[in-house]
Amino acid sequence: MATNWQPNSWRGRDVRQVPSYPDAAHLAQVEQTLSGYPPLVFAGEARKLRTQLADVAAGKAFLLQGGDCAESFAEFHPDNIRDTFKVLLQMAVVLTFGAACPVVKVGRLAGQFAKPRSADTETVDGVELPSYRGDIINDMAFETNGRAPDPDRLVRAYNQSAATLNLLRAFAQGGFADLHKVHRWNLDFVRSSPQGARYEALAARIEETLCFMEACGITAESVPKIRETDFYTSHEALLLPYEQALTRQDSLTGRWYDVSAHLLWIGDRTRQPDGAHVEFMRGVENPIAMKAGPSLDPEELLRLIDILNPSNEAGRLTLICRMGADNVAAKLPRLVRAVAREGRNVVWSCDPMHGNTVKASSGYKTRAFDRILEEVRGFFAVHRAEGTHAGGVHFEMTGQDVTECIGGAQAITEEGLSDRYHTHCDPRLNASQSIELAFEIAENLRRQRDQDNARVAAAS
Ligand code: PEP
Ligand code: CO
Repeated sequence: MATNWQPNSWRGRDVRQVPSYPDAAHLAQVEQTLSGYPPLVFAGEARKLRTQLADVAAGKAFLLQGGDCAESFAEFHPDNIRDTFKVLLQMAVVLTFGAACPVVKVGRLAGQFAKPRSADTETVDGVELPSYRGDIINDMAFETNGRAPDPDRLVRAYNQSAATLNLLRAFAQGGFADLHKVHRWNLDFVRSSPQGARYEALAARIEETLCFMEACGITAESVPKIRETDFYTSHEALLLPYEQALTRQDSLTGRWYDVSAHLLWIGDRTRQPDGAHVEFMRGVENPIAMKAGPSLDPEELLRLIDILNPSNEAGRLTLICRMGADNVAAKLPRLVRAVAREGRNVVWSCDPMHGNTVKASSGYKTRAFDRILEEVRGFFAVHRAEGTHAGGVHFEMTGQDVTECIGGAQAITEEGLSDRYHTHCDPRLNASQSIELAFEIAENLRRQRDQDNARVAAAS
């Protein structure tokens, strides 16, 4: 257990990206209320995920983490949750079947509300207001009242997270994720696209395989994994008053868990070794992750690993690298080498989104699909060269038919961005682009596996 740590010990540190609330007493009262609400996840589930991530660290499984950049109150709808879940299932089968690799599925869902911002304020036509920081904090509309941080939003976000998680659990365990339904996960607007057709072909092969397995006596009755799946939730642990209110001592082990999600991560802007976010996260026993951007140097990374995973347990810490397509070859190898040299157990994951955000001439924030692919390929290439494992991917996607990232097989153009640009924060991959990406990752995973097999054969 972390020494000299309490759920509130972060309060003595420098706190970045958490707004100051005009009515501190109101915030304190909401924190008190939330601390009496039921946990959203069970500590035992977080432990199970940690074990599965230890397999990822050892190269025996792959981490697929994806979902919204920012969940919103306005887009809260069962169809949106269902469609995002469908696309994640599709990506997972493409990876599992295409690369013969078990996939650990983690959503950026059911709690992904708070956003770090590069500027504290936003100015429009000479009017300056606080920046929008996500629906758990304030309102996106550019209005004085709405932009003031409102503590009641924490309760609304908690309730929305609980309802979202409830539906996700039902989907994962209640028959929706049954592999026999693999065709039905394909969304109508994707079916007719090149990616949809490619997916249909793979789904047909899975069906054939299931028939063969059934003939051999391997059925959903004997192997429940055929009809249900494990699905975990995650978000950036940014709004520390909320995270603290949901941090509880597990009755079985006496250890502290942040029960707002299974996995929590520290963002690239709040990973100062002596800062509040690192202090909070070192004490919770959940599996945790940390974003690693281009400004992170190897010495600082090792220092952070010492703080966050002092007993060097595999599965505890995932490093989500988001270097940018141009930086990955130059910046990632130094980190990978330092971690390997010191024998630290981590999961290496790739976020090909956040280092590749650009402003289109029309003013929309966007990402080019080609750059995203380039960063994924670069990430795998570094691990192939270093003999380490490319363990996972982390990206922003939605099951909706949006036009937020340019390119992909649908060839979304800069002019086309305005058609269906709905995000509350960063541009997301749509369903078709997500599936296209999954096929690319599967190809890279196959190469990684072939290389591993060749190494084993050479050594024996
Ligand atoms: C995010 O994941 O939405 C995010 C803000 O990422 P980063 O901390 O890597 O910038
Ligand atoms: Co984002």
